[in-house]
Formats: sequence, structure tokens, C-alpha cells
Amino acid sequence: MKPLVNKIVCIGAGYVGGPTMAVIADRCPDIDVTVLDLNEVRIAAWNSEELPIYEPGLAAVVSRARGRNLRFVGQTEGAAHVAAADAVFISVNTPTKTDGEGAGKASDLRYVESCARFIAAHAKGHTIVIEKSTMPVRAADRIKSILASAGLGVTFDILSNPEFLAEGTAIRDLEQPDRVLIGGERPEPIAALAEIYRRWVPAERVLSTDLWSAELSKLVANAFLAQRVSSINSISALCEVTGADIEEVASVIGTDSRIGPKFLRASVGFGGSCFQKDLLSLIYISESYGLTEVAAYWQQVVDLNQWQKHRFADQIAAPIATAEGSLRGRRIAILGFAFKKDTNDVRETPAIDVCRRLLARGATLAVHDYKVTPDSVASEIGTQGVEVAATPEAALAGADGVAVLTEWSAYAKLDWARLAGMLKAGAVIYDGRNIVDAEAVRRAGLTLRSIGKGGQFNT
Ligand code: NAD
Ligand code: UGA
Repeated sequence: MKPLVNKIVCIGAGYVGGPTMAVIADRCPDIDVTVLDLNEVRIAAWNSEELPIYEPGLAAVVSRARGRNLRFVGQTEGAAHVAAADAVFISVNTPTKTDGEGAGKASDLRYVESCARFIAAHAKGHTIVIEKSTMPVRAADRIKSILASAGLGVTFDILSNPEFLAEGTAIRDLEQPDRVLIGGERPEPIAALAEIYRRWVPAERVLSTDLWSAELSKLVANAFLAQRVSSINSISALCEVTGADIEEVASVIGTDSRIGPKFLRASVGFGGSCFQKDLLSLIYISESYGLTEVAAYWQQVVDLNQWQKHRFADQIAAPIATAEGSLRGRRIAILGFAFKKDTNDVRETPAIDVCRRLLARGATLAVHDYKVTPDSVASEIGTQGVEVAATPEAALAGADGVAVLTEWSAYAKLDWARLAGMLKAGAVIYDGRNIVDAEAVRRAGLTLRSIGKGGQFNT
């Protein structure tokens, strides 16, 4: 049987649009998938062997589908594909607003609105417009009002189909999702989209709700995940002063099936393009409905995260700062700059706050990461006082202190016996991810301070 949706367009070839469409095209060879973006450089990269994002498994999926039923095109070429499309996904960025009403909290919908105008200008016949971007609840109203400007005989359905993939595991998350959520107003378009996902996702995992519940569920899912990280991070500080061990505590509470073991890894703080932005959006929405207590509750998740990053930076500084608190002449090795392992993404990475705080006190930083480019480091923290090292060894050479900020697996296997001699005498290793091999560090005669490991702070 012919699928109800034969031709798909996705506007936005980013971390979500690219992998999501690649998996749909891979799983549905009979559906024609076009991904368009106004960033021609990004499109050129998607059409090359050097994909614009690093994601395990992505290259294989893209190479199977690209040139068969998956194509990446620029804005101009994309217009004709929108005209022919049965369904158009909007998968553009929705960052925090930097100016105007709600600046610093509300989601900036200007890119979404520009997509809606593009669709209104080029769509023909009936088109299903699908919110894939994370939107504030009731954003669909704004899209609808823009689509209403389309010509005579052009009609739309709107669906909310938020994405739950996490970077670093995007392909696995897309191929085996916990759930796919489709919110809509009429059963027919919901069924048409569900039919696509059901090709590889068990039916009971394809959930449908009304539009507003789908939009809100996405924000709430991220808020709950971020809240778990802030919760465990708050306890990491308590562990350090009491002598308790955060990994023991997390493992004990995680055996309670009502709590569960996931997302209880204490860290230097959560990062990434979405947790903070989506929390702030939720806070702004709550405030705009007069729910100040609700807003204050979620604000605390953001504030605790900021505090954790600063707390960690101050710990690194404490033993090597002058009496006046200066770090001038001190070299600190930063191991890891990405916001988590297996990605090259540095958006809102905790490394930015930690590094800026150390740089502000005059430190010199030697930054190493396995996937982040020197340009990305420079764009976030500048080049003044910052050296990008090609290897962990180069970063560690002559360092007065070491900070592990990303949980790259290779950092867990560093040969501290060999590296110890490269560090300045008395250099302390601060592990913001609890991955450093504590026994190897001890045997090398070095001092380790791992987040939430009270035993190490009390010796
Ligand atoms: P991104 O910045 O990587 O990609 C967005 C792309 O949209 C960019 O390439 C940009 O050039 C393009 N774009 C913007 N306006 C456009 C327009 N008018 N026409 C054509 N292209 C346009 O963003 P992302 O990380 O893919 O996130 C996209 C959305 O998905 C956001 O709302 C985000 O909250 C949500 N989300 C992200 C993730 C994630 O892991 N990154 C996971 C789930 C949901
Ligand atoms: C997160 C969600 O997990 C996805 O479901 C969601 O789709 C996505 O946001 C989004 O909307 O963008 P992502 O940010 O890619 O995915 O990665 P996570 O694995 O959630 O990690 C986020 C941050 O929290 C990272 O900095 C990570 O190191 C940190 N974290 C995570 C911890 O510090 N401890 C944990 O136990 C888990």
C-alpha cells in the first residue's frame, strides 16, 4: 500500500534535522526526503564525506540513503520541494531570545516564523506542517496564523512531533526511541505521521496527544532530566563536605524502581543547547501565566547548575591562587570541551563557564578535546590566554592543575604513571565527571579530587 506521506521536506539541517531525516530515509526507502537549510556551507558538508556534525553511526546511515531517497539542498532549490511535499518538518533552532519581550528567557521563534512564511509562500494543495523544533506551548497558534496567509486552495494541518534524541546517541535514540510523540488536532494527519514511524518503532511507543500537551511534554521532559542532574549535583557538594561518596549514594537511590538509575551522574554541570534554554522557556511561560512559584521552582534548577560550574572552577583555583586570588602565571590543563562525550557540540558546554572563570582570574589554559575544533574553542572563550592542545599530553605539560570537563572514554584510560612527570610538582587533578582512574592516579603519587567523592576531599 502506498504511504499517505510520500514526500517529506525538513527545514533545518542541524543536529536534529540531519540525523532525524537520515533515519527516516534509511528506514523508509519509498519516501522521498529533502532536507533544506539556508546555511549553504552546512548543506555542502552534508553532501560531502565530512558531515557537519559528529555523531556515532550517522555517516553510515547517511551514506545508505543519500543519493537514493535523501537529499540536502539550499533554500532556493528547496522551494519546489516544499510545493511538492505532503509533509514539512520545521527543525530549526529555537534559542533563548536576546532582545525584546522575554529577552533572556523566552524562546526566540523568529526562525520558526520565517519557516512558516516560507511554507505559506511555496506550499501547494494540502500540507502537513510538523513542529520538530522544541516550541513553547501554544506556538502552533503562531504558525497557524502565518500559514493563514497562504493562497486560495492551500490548506494545512499542524502536528507537534518533538524530538527526544540526545547528542552522542542520536542514531540509537532515533532507531530505538523510548517513544515517539505526535500531538495534533485531527486523527488523519496524526495517523499519517504515525504510519511512518511504525515502520520501525513498536506501535505502543508511538504516542498521540493533543497539540498543547505534546508541545508542553517536550519542555517538561527536558526540565525533569535537567532537574535530576541539578539534584544529584546539589548532593555532590554535600558528599564532599561530609565524606560521603556521590556514586554510592546515586547507586543506592537508583535501585528504587520509582527513582531509577539513569541520569544520576554527578558532574561539573549540565550543558548543551537545550536544557537551559528549555528550562528558561518553561520559566517564562509560567511567569507569563502568573505562576511565580512554579517559575521559581524551575529557576532553582538553572541556578544550581550555574553554582556547580562556578564551585568547580573555584576548587581548581583554590590551591594555586595567590593570596590576592590571582591565577596569573598558572597553567591549567582542560581535558574536554564538548558538553558531553561523543559529540563536537560546544553549545552551552560547562567548559565555557569554568574556563571563563579561570581566565578572568588570569590563568593560562591548555584545552584538549577529541572532537571540538580550535575554532569552536576560540569562538566560545577567545584566544587570549588559551592554547588548544592536540593531545592530552600536550595540554598536561607544565600544568599547575588539571580539570577533566568531558567524560571522553579515553580520559579514563590515561597513563598517569607516565604523565605524572609532565605536571608541575603538587598539581591536583580535578575530575568533573568521575571518570579518572583513581587508583592509577594514586599510584602515580598525584592528588585527585573527583566531584562528590567526599573521601578525597577529607584526606
Ligand atoms: P541547529 O542550530 O543545529 O540547526 C538548526 C538549523 O536550522 C541551522 O542549520 C540553521 O541554519 C537552520 N535554519 C534556521 N532558520 C532557517 C530557515 N528559516 N530556513 C532554513 N534553515 C534555517 O539546531 P538543532 O540542535 O538541530 O535544534 C533544532 C531544534 O530541535 C531546536 O528547537 C532544539 O531545541 C530541538 N532539539 C534539539 C536537540 C539536540 O540534541 N540538538 C534534541 C531535541 C530537540
Ligand atoms: C537532552 C535530552 O537528554 C534529550 O532527550 C533531548 O532531546 C535533548 O536534550 C534536547 O532537547 O536537546 P542532550 O542535551 O543531547 O539531550 O544530552 P544529555 O545526555 O541529556 O546531557 C545533557 C547534559 O547533562 C550534558 O552536559 C551531560 O553531561 C549532563 N548530564 C547528563 C549529567 O551531568 N549527568 C547525567 O547523569 C546526565
